[in-house]
Amino acid sequence: MTQHLATPATAPASATAPAPADWWRDAVIYQVYPRSFADANGDGMGDLAGVRSRLGYLRDLGVDAVWLSPFYASPQSDAGYDVADYRAVDPMFGDLPDADALIADAHRLGLRIIVDLVPNHCSDQHPWFQRALREGPGSPLRGRFHFRPGKGADGELPPNDWESIFGGPAWTRTTDPDGTPGEWYLHLFAPEQPDFNWDDPAVADEFRSILRFWLDLGVDGFRIDVAHGLVKAPGLPDIGHGDQIRLLGNAVLPFFDQDGVHQVYREWRRILDEYSGGPGGHRIGVAEAWTPTVERTALYLRRDELHQAFNFQYLQADWRAEELREVIDRSLAAMRPVDAPATWVLSNHDVVRHRTRLGGEGEDGLRRARAATLLMLALPGSAYLYQGEELGLPEVLELPDEARQDPAFRRSRAGGDAEGQDGMRDGCRVPLPWSGSAPPYGFGPDPESPTWLPQPADWAAYTVEAQTGDPTSTLEFYRSALAVRRRHPALGAGDAVEWLPAPEGVLAFRRTAPDGTVLTCTANTGAETVLIDAPGRLLLASAEADAPAEGAFPLARDTTAWWTS
Ligand code: GLC
Repeated sequence: MTQHLATPATAPASATAPAPADWWRDAVIYQVYPRSFADANGDGMGDLAGVRSRLGYLRDLGVDAVWLSPFYASPQSDAGYDVADYRAVDPMFGDLPDADALIADAHRLGLRIIVDLVPNHCSDQHPWFQRALREGPGSPLRGRFHFRPGKGADGELPPNDWESIFGGPAWTRTTDPDGTPGEWYLHLFAPEQPDFNWDDPAVADEFRSILRFWLDLGVDGFRIDVAHGLVKAPGLPDIGHGDQIRLLGNAVLPFFDQDGVHQVYREWRRILDEYSGGPGGHRIGVAEAWTPTVERTALYLRRDELHQAFNFQYLQADWRAEELREVIDRSLAAMRPVDAPATWVLSNHDVVRHRTRLGGEGEDGLRRARAATLLMLALPGSAYLYQGEELGLPEVLELPDEARQDPAFRRSRAGGDAEGQDGMRDGCRVPLPWSGSAPPYGFGPDPESPTWLPQPADWAAYTVEAQTGDPTSTLEFYRSALAVRRRHPALGAGDAVEWLPAPEGVLAFRRTAPDGTVLTCTANTGAETVLIDAPGRLLLASAEADAPAEGAFPLARDTTAWWTS
C-alpha cells in the first residue's frame, strides 16, 4: 500500500480554548510580511486589512501566533525597517484602527500577535533626526544618535572604519545648516537608517513608552530587530581590517553583541511582566540577535531578559544528519541553563527560501524542504514559519534589476561596488499566490493591478486554492503536520530529544510526553533509500511512503517520517 499522508488534515480543535500563560514555549509562530501577504485595497501592496481578511486561513493552517514585520509610518527605504513614527501605521498599510481590529480579530480566533520593534535605528525622516540635522553640532538631539566629526585635515574621512551591513562605510557626512560639510553620523544599515545612541536616556525612555503603547493596544509580544546592535563599544573603536561582512555573526564586533545591551532587555522584561498577568498569558520578547554562538544567544534569554531568540545557527545548517544533530544538541544544551525554549527556523524575509537554499531549483528542493520542515516541527521548543513556505514557494531568482527594492542591491550589486549583504532579499518577498491561474493570483481584488514585486507566470499550481484539498500538496502537508503537533503531547514540549541508533545520513530520535506518549522522528538526509526498523505506526511522512512490511521500512532519500507507538 502506498500512503502519502497517514493523518488527514483537521482544523485545530482547540483554537479558541484558553491557552496556558506560557503559550510561547512550544508555539508555532508564522511570519507575515505585510507587503506581500494580501492586498485589500487593490494597490498591489499588501495591507493590514488584507492580513485581517486572511486570519481564518492562518487559524486553519494551525499556527499559534503571527509575527508581523513592520507596518509603521516609514519612507520604506528598507521595506519599513526604517521607522519615522513608531506609534503610527503607514497609510499604505492602513491606520491604527486597522491594527486594533486585526489584533482583536486574531485574539477571537485564538491567534497571538507579535509586532516587530526596530530599536537600533530609525528613519532619517524621524522627527528627532530631522531636528538633529537642523539644529547642528552640539544640539542635544544629536546626542540621541552617533554624530562625530570626521578624520583627516578637513574632516573628510569617516570617524572610524566600520562598514555598513548593506555595503560601504557605516558613516555618512552631513551638511551643516550654513551649507558647509559637517559631522558624520553612524548607520549600520542604509544611510536612511541612522543608529540611535542608547547611552542617551531619552532613547531608552522613548522605547519604554513605545513598548507600552503597543502593549496597551493588546499585542502579545515583540520581535526585536537587530537586538544585538543597540549598544556600541565605548569610543567606537576601529576594527582594524576590512573583512567585517564575513565576520558578521562569527565574531564579536564593537557594534554587535556588546555586554551592555543586556541591561536594556532587563528593563523591557519588567515592562512585559507587568502586562503578563491577564487572561492572554505572557507578553514576550523575541531577539533577532546574530551572535557567534548559540551560547552567546542564550545570554539574551536569561530569566530576567527576553523569552526567545531566533536560532540562526540552525537556519544556516546544511541538510546533513551529522551537522543537524550537532546544532540541535548544542542549541538544546545552550538553552537549558537559562530555562528558555530552543527555537527553530528555516526561512524568513532576509534569507533565500529554504526550498531553494537546501535543494536548489526543481522538485528535489521541495522534497528536501518538506523533510526539513517535518524534522523542525518534531523538535522541542518553538518553531517559526515564513509566509509562503507552506505553499512550497521557491525563491524567485529571475527578478528584473529594475524591480528589485532591497537597499543593499544598489549598494553592492547594480551600479554599486561596496561589498555588503548580497542585496538579493527580494526573491523571498514576492507577493503570495492565493487563487486563479495568472498574476496577481488573487493577491488583491483587482486582476489588472500589478503587485509591488512581479510574481512568476508559472505559480498557478502554488496557489492556496489549487493546493487546498489535494492530499499531496505542500499546504495540506503543513496543515496535517501542525494538526498532529497540536494534539500530540510529545511534540514541542520539553527540552530534550533521545537519539536512537541510525544508519549513516539518518537522524532518529524519540520524544516522550509527560503522560508517557511517545513520538519517534526519522529523517533521511542522504541520497539513497535506507531500510530502517519501523519504530511504530507511521503517522505522517514528508513524501510518499510505503507502509512498513514485516517491520522494515524503506525511508526514501530526503524524507522525514513521524511514528507513534
Ligand atoms: C533586520 C531585518 C532586516 C533589516 C535589518 C535592518 O535584520 O530583519 O530586514 O533590513 O534588520 O533593520
